[in-house]
Amino acid sequence: MSATDKRYSVVIAGGGSTFTPGFVLSLIANEDRFPLRKLKFYDNDEERQKKIGDACAIIMKERAPQIEFSYTTDPEEAFTDVDFVMGSIRVGKYHMRELDEKIPLRYGVNGQETTGPGGMAYGLRSIPAIIEIIDWMEKYSPNAWMINYSNTIAIVAEACRRLRPHAKVINICDMPVALMTRMAQICGLNDYHDLDVNYYGLNHFGWWKEVRDKKTGQDLMPKLRDHIAQNGYWIGGQFDQETEKSWAETYKKAKDCYALDPEALPNTYLQYYYFPQYEVANADPHHTRTDEIREYRQKIVFDECARIVQAGTAKGNIWEASIEHSNYIVDICHAIAYNTHEKFFANIPNNGAIANIDPDSVVEVPCWFGADGVQPMATGNAGEFERGMMMEQQTCEKLVVDAYEQHSYNKMWQAFALNKTVPDAAIAKKILDDMIPVNKPYWPELK
Ligand code: NAD
Ligand code: G6P
Ligand code: MN
Repeated sequence: MSATDKRYSVVIAGGGSTFTPGFVLSLIANEDRFPLRKLKFYDNDEERQKKIGDACAIIMKERAPQIEFSYTTDPEEAFTDVDFVMGSIRVGKYHMRELDEKIPLRYGVNGQETTGPGGMAYGLRSIPAIIEIIDWMEKYSPNAWMINYSNTIAIVAEACRRLRPHAKVINICDMPVALMTRMAQICGLNDYHDLDVNYYGLNHFGWWKEVRDKKTGQDLMPKLRDHIAQNGYWIGGQFDQETEKSWAETYKKAKDCYALDPEALPNTYLQYYYFPQYEVANADPHHTRTDEIREYRQKIVFDECARIVQAGTAKGNIWEASIEHSNYIVDICHAIAYNTHEKFFANIPNNGAIANIDPDSVVEVPCWFGADGVQPMATGNAGEFERGMMMEQQTCEKLVVDAYEQHSYNKMWQAFALNKTVPDAAIAKKILDDMIPVNKPYWPELK
């Protein structure tokens, strides 16, 4: 078989994820350029995964019977004979996400999945689970690559840098490409593939310095500045105002971030650091994003899976048109498999990519993806303001990994206390003290 005839074996870790059916449809849609021989799901929650797995088995049988499909909770079965691991786990599931969001809000502090104390709590839960998966992958399929997007990515990437520096794991986020797709549409282009950019920062904490039309080289910044100054990244009603209300608000809020700092275009997540008081005032401490997901995304996905299983067919399923996030991950696997050296984004040790940032700390920058992994692009200097913000945030992320390695209460308190979203060190302690008992099954014992 020549290299070009190769068919790949993929395992989705976190098979019970709400995003899994979208991945399956993306993989099928991309069969011509990234052909599969095997697709497996792995999860540690048998019941949750079965609901998604049984529906996907029907999708696979109808759309891609040539691909061998199975799902399992056994790590050896899952990670043996795979070329790619797609990491999509949520340690503690939505129950713990809810606590990440609601505990800080008790004290008037930002309650969000990946930012502030909630994001740091989530990162600390994810570290051992991701390391475990890397170790299984290395044991059972030593040549495989793991494309991980299980959050909190900045913290997971710092843990990988320290604990498994040689592992073939790439930690990614879809926010830059999701925003670039919006930018492309604002400029009358199709999607992120049509843009060439210079972007720098940390995960959920970055800025675009340059955006150009990839084909013509035309500078698109003036057009984007005009749009963002008026509308943020909001491009109209395609978003279901009811089911994704908080995302609609987030896209619009980028207008205020941009107004404060018009030198570069902001990642949407900067809203939590620029406007912590607004975010808290605007939040309902008893109804957060997790509730919205339970009411809509999770319900819609699991109801649809049940419907497919009941009907015995996946004809007319709801995911056909909404696979943007999963297409990106297939793009990345394709670039590694075929050594294309396309430019995407990764969270990697800086090593000079941002000239005035410590070479050892993890940053999110454009990288060339190929068979040897990722090579970061040199992005130049961070602005002085942005550099200051990044150093503070990076230190928080490092302190969380210190807390993990040293089982240190004090390091975790320092991480919370230093964070820009936390106004007071005593409040940081109260939040941490509320989080420790509920995180007992997942965190090391902090002493
Ligand atoms: P979800 O709760 O629907 O699914 C996660 C699955 O992971 C669950 O089925 C759960 O049982 C499983 N799981 C938990 N711990 C596990 C472990 N140790 N081993 C194996 N399986 C385990 O979550 P979701 O909302 O679909 O999100 C999945 C993940 O993707 C989250 O980490 C989320 O933050 C992340 N995400 C990241 C990006 C990004 O930009 N990087 C984008 C979207 C989602
Ligand atoms: C974006 C971010 C992810 C994050 C997700 C949360 O895609 O890049 O890192 O996990 O949004 O979305 P949700 O709909 O679960 O709130
Ligand atoms: Mn992300």
